Amino acid sequence: MMRLFVIIQIQKDVNDVAGSSAELKIPTHIAFVMDGNGRWAKKRFMPRNYGHSEGARSLKTVIRSLAELGVKYATFYAFSTENWNRPQEEVDGLMQLFDEQLDSLKEYEKENIRLLFIGDRTRLAPGLIEKMAECESKSADRTGLTVIIAVNYGGQDEIVRAVRKVAELAGEGYIKPQDISGKFFESLLDTNGIPPVDLMVRTGGEKRLSNFLIWQNAYAEFYFCDTLWPDFGKKELIKAIEDYTSRDRRFGKVSVSKADA
Ligand code: FPP
Repeated sequence: MMRLFVIIQIQKDVNDVAGSSAELKIPTHIAFVMDGNGRWAKKRFMPRNYGHSEGARSLKTVIRSLAELGVKYATFYAFSTENWNRPQEEVDGLMQLFDEQLDSLKEYEKENIRLLFIGDRTRLAPGLIEKMAECESKSADRTGLTVIIAVNYGGQDEIVRAVRKVAELAGEGYIKPQDISGKFFESLLDTNGIPPVDLMVRTGGEKRLSNFLIWQNAYAEFYFCDTLWPDFGKKELIKAIEDYTSRDRRFGKVSVSKADA
């Protein structure tokens, strides 16, 4: 009964946005660059960290919507390896916000949501590292949406860390150069076991990747919108998925219609 209600509600949301009942192609993995928190706060004459806490509210709305839509994996860029260069007050505020939010995120039991973290944890506070590990172990058996939060994450840094592992394995004689394939290398990335990104969404009007999931975004479709992250909700998410639905994904091949011609 509840499931039927959810399906009807999603169809209603889609119709509200699209004005049609066109079927949505649901991406398996969506990645989000949650940009625009600072500008959102500035517009309201509020400190940047206020924008981040409103951004955390949006994050939770989006997570619930993704679970309802049946998306299997969603990765969120919460803190990059470059974000340490922001003013100390903002960095401290963000770290405190993550710490507080993890308490509520680990409770997504009813929604069957699994939580994972990617990035280099070694620079994070021991208390935060512990909470992250607790979130992961508490939710490990859940089979619904997997939410991946990138903290102290950089795509280049992830690749360098993987290359170091390759060098260690080779140095200890476990692998030879010919053993190194794309699949093998992928298994050494933070995202081991997670499928590649299908749709990469960036809010806040900028059109760049900012060192996010460089390897995993190889064949992703990109969606950029001007909405600032704290204003991004279910309707905007459905718009992004509608746009994705209209794309012709060729993965380097020719489209079916062209191949027939
Ligand atoms: C980029 O916007 C946003 C960030 C660097 C932080 C994103 C963090 C959150 C949304 C909170 C997430 C919470 C958890 C628990 C993961 P910006 O500050 O660069 O915005 P601007 O471009 O307007 O200055």
